[in-house]
Amino acid sequence: MDIDKTRRTVCLGLLGGIAAMATGGAYGSVTVNKGTRVFRLDGGGVTYAFGVNGDGRLQTLYWGSALSMTDELAAPVATPENSSNETSIMLTPFEFAAFGGGTMTEPALKVRFPDGVRDLDLRYAGHEVEAGRIVVRLKDVQRAVHVTLTYAMDQATGILSRSATVENRTSGWVHVDQLAAAGINLPYADDYQLSFLTGRWAGEFALQTRPVTPGSTVIESRKGETAHQANPWFALSRADTEEESGPVWFGALGWSGSWRISVDLDGLGGVRATAGYNPFDFGYRLKPGDSLASPVFYGGFSDAGFGRASRMFHRYQRTRILPGAPAPRPRPVLYNSWEATAFAVDEPGQIALAEQAARIGVERFVVDDGWFGARDSDRAGLGDWVVNPKKFPHGLGPLIRRVNDLGMEFGLWVEPEMVNPDSDLYRAHPDWVIHFKGRPRTEARNQLVLNLARKDVYDYLLKTLDQLVSNNNIAFLKWDHNRTWSEPGWPDIAPDEQQKLYVAYVDNLYKLLAELRRRHPKLEIESCASGGGRVDLGILRYTDQVWVSDNTDPFDRLAIQDGFSRAYAPAIMMAWVTDSPNYVNRRVTSLEYRFLSSMQGALGIGANLKHWTDADFTLAKRLVGEYKAIRATVQQGNLYRLVSPQQGSPRSATLSVSDDRRQAVLFAFLHSSTMRETQPLIRLRGLDPAATYALRAISGMAAKGTPARASGAYWMGHGLQAALNGDFQAAAFVLEAQT
Ligand code: GLA
Repeated sequence: MDIDKTRRTVCLGLLGGIAAMATGGAYGSVTVNKGTRVFRLDGGGVTYAFGVNGDGRLQTLYWGSALSMTDELAAPVATPENSSNETSIMLTPFEFAAFGGGTMTEPALKVRFPDGVRDLDLRYAGHEVEAGRIVVRLKDVQRAVHVTLTYAMDQATGILSRSATVENRTSGWVHVDQLAAAGINLPYADDYQLSFLTGRWAGEFALQTRPVTPGSTVIESRKGETAHQANPWFALSRADTEEESGPVWFGALGWSGSWRISVDLDGLGGVRATAGYNPFDFGYRLKPGDSLASPVFYGGFSDAGFGRASRMFHRYQRTRILPGAPAPRPRPVLYNSWEATAFAVDEPGQIALAEQAARIGVERFVVDDGWFGARDSDRAGLGDWVVNPKKFPHGLGPLIRRVNDLGMEFGLWVEPEMVNPDSDLYRAHPDWVIHFKGRPRTEARNQLVLNLARKDVYDYLLKTLDQLVSNNNIAFLKWDHNRTWSEPGWPDIAPDEQQKLYVAYVDNLYKLLAELRRRHPKLEIESCASGGGRVDLGILRYTDQVWVSDNTDPFDRLAIQDGFSRAYAPAIMMAWVTDSPNYVNRRVTSLEYRFLSSMQGALGIGANLKHWTDADFTLAKRLVGEYKAIRATVQQGNLYRLVSPQQGSPRSATLSVSDDRRQAVLFAFLHSSTMRETQPLIRLRGLDPAATYALRAISGMAAKGTPARASGAYWMGHGLQAALNGDFQAAAFVLEAQT
């Protein structure tokens, strides 16, 4: 059973015996020592341990490389008081700190009661172990507020998943002001570095790294969606950690609404991270008997640098998170019409593009915005999911049939959660949007956000999308979300309940996606939010791929893709070849360079094929063919970031190695040559040193004298030099193990 499926209903089983150990299929082993009340999860070369201290509070014991199963961990001891200003409760590394009893660290849970009490003191009340998961029950020292913490560790990768559920068993309401999935405590060290991802529209996934200094670093979204400004992923490393060496603790929150991760360094050097709902403007009132579940937090540990950390996380996403897990289907090569035609879509134009796309080996043809309602620009039509009769007089049928006849699947863009005020839907239901009663409604891109937390909105969207997919042979939806929230009110429910919007909206979004997929098991979905504004492990349970950025400039993309790969798998990373000069920055690049940049992820084409020459088609057809032969390795292999494009590096290189190490794919990029400099040798990684690999250039050339075949040891020890000279140059090679 999956931890996410338990987010709402935590199963409680019973554990007998003094000490017990359990394994549960995909889960690692769980060891509970009933005498010492120490809990331990082991998997993927990682051990995580916590226990109950003498005060009955849950305390972290260890998180790092695997300990021996014979290592006995003693029950935790609360950190001693340093002074009357740094008391024990302020310093002890709790697994799940509630605000109360004198805690001053970032709480995982903060509540208030009808009598004004805002104090919660959680103590251990019992536990169960079930199929590889540990469920620990906590309860306030006086009041019937119960918390269950659920832990599981993935056997292959050591990724730990954690979530919390708070339940009100009192006779009055309990108002939750703050709820996190987990608190994470790191081993004591004084040189931690924090890495995280920030961005903006057309500039997502910028890698930030800085020392952890006293105080808090907060990364968050207050916007109702995951957002571009920061992504819910972080890594904590030591000063000497490098790409392929040293320890890295990392984590990500699976939540597509407002979220917050706070990394704190206390006065005595303790480093903690707390990840959960963003407490900014948050509130969730629990009636007697109600409960609230946190999102799921995923944490991992690598003792071999950032490279291994992301390879483990990529594997976990492919095998445990994505809808196609444990073996997601490789992403088809797609064509998308957005940059070519914008809103000017119609049947003959799209058929002409589809015919050209089929010539180069495209497998999925996607019509983007503009096919519905009165959608001739972004000013009208959003919400009216009926085919525009002027653009498609016979419906979508003729286009879809032609696309299918050409051997391609058909996909369609939708933005279900949004509405233009100039739409039939808004005219009929002006009350369906998120707003405060009687207050102005702020528009962005001329649109408002539908309140998906409402049952009628949910029902309408399910019915509309279900019909759209049922009535047309649609294999794929690009699901967009082009603005963040404003005036987050829900006037139809009681004022004290309205802030439930932050949770109820996202829960209904997940429910809608899940139900649509249940009804249409072959349907695949892409998560898009003005580019990469909704990429997180919550939405990835329901979507097969993501649109990373509206910035399709192939050079800018190298840094965006590198940042993306820190947290997310290349298997979901859509990258299109578009026109040159690029619309974002007017940069001119060759078609070959654009292809190689996009081939680092899941390849798509977004160029206006009407402007292509015969030579362009010939090159594109060849490279699409090459891509199909390497895509399993690129999308589902192990990624080595050999030379990072971060910090203005003029060069970058990645290597993808298949699990069986029979195939490896190298991409190398150069921004510009200066002073006739020589290109450094690129040393490969992850190959079988004893195997012989034949080298073949997919595009570009290796330097003169490079052997056509050599051992893995040679390619890793000696390396190879790509013959790159000029501006925006690229080369790609495939290495195949010889039998
Ligand atoms: C967003 C997406 C684009 C495109 C447009 C359509 O900006 O990120 O890829 O779909 O919407 O309006």
